[in-house]
Amino acid sequence: MYSQALNAPALATDDSEAGQRFQARIEAEERIEPNDWMPEAYRRTLIRQISQHAHSEIVGMLPEGNWITRAPTLRRKAALLAKVQDEGGHGLYLYAAAETLGVSREELVEQLLTGRAKYSSIFNYPTLSWADIGAIGWLVDGAAIMNQIPLCRCSYGPYARAMIRICKEESFHQRQGFEIMTVLARGTDDQKAMAQDALNRWWWPSLMMFGPPDAQSQHSDASMRWKIKRFTNDSLRQKFVDATVPQGHYLGLGFPDPELRLNEATGHWEFGAIDWDEFRRVLAGDGPCNRERLTARQRAHEDGAWVREAALAYAAKGRNGRTRAAA
Ligand SMILES: [Fe+2]
Ligand SMILES: [Fe+2]
Repeated sequence: MYSQALNAPALATDDSEAGQRFQARIEAEERIEPNDWMPEAYRRTLIRQISQHAHSEIVGMLPEGNWITRAPTLRRKAALLAKVQDEGGHGLYLYAAAETLGVSREELVEQLLTGRAKYSSIFNYPTLSWADIGAIGWLVDGAAIMNQIPLCRCSYGPYARAMIRICKEESFHQRQGFEIMTVLARGTDDQKAMAQDALNRWWWPSLMMFGPPDAQSQHSDASMRWKIKRFTNDSLRQKFVDATVPQGHYLGLGFPDPELRLNEATGHWEFGAIDWDEFRRVLAGDGPCNRERLTARQRAHEDGAWVREAALAYAAKGRNGRTRAAA
């Protein structure tokens, strides 16, 4: 995951000469690099988006981490371990990309641990069965890919470059999830029911991952103008539905939406209304697992204090050693 387009509205257009030059570079598809001049609102929008994205990767390790010890085979366990480790890596590349904008990693982590920062709402839902690991890979990582492929062409260089590697890894995540779903859907009646139940629970929250509808998403305009964002929330959501519904039917599974139907004229799958009240509730901290996720992160941070201390002590020792050698 998982930039959910949660970033707050950006400030008004910068009409200064520098602002116009900046916009011309954006129009010319030039990449903006850390030492280049940029409008303050662009910098702040990016810090918010990249850090929310980083937090989502880190918190996103928790729902699946829950199943590492209970994976059904050694092969599944190895694949899940690798996937969860990848998500940790994504968080680190993204914190590093945010740091190039003049914010410190400590500050960002502090915002997450004190509950001031947002992360993708999807990770506040519980993983109740092994099939959830399949559904998350297939749907959640699938939605993440849809969202993130356009970010590989984002106007800010460090973010765009981080996304290239991240997207390659997300594609492995999506396939391992779909493969788990395939095996369950072709298994015993109980296994198929488990796959269906996971799809039923993850479908709507996955559609929410694309963020609020375009009509309510005020910040989209500035992000599109700056070419941070290339497609609107609704168009990405539609793309995801169009790609995913035939995959579910291939598995012989149904979707929990009585209004889902193919519009022959447009070629798009039309779907029912999304419960935006639920989305806002989960985002505001009142989802099924918000408190549990935050507590787990806080505990992990406290438990890791000795590692940070040891790393600092080691670095200081290295510096002293080098100073002595140079003397
Ligand atoms: Fe990821
Ligand atoms: Fe992933």
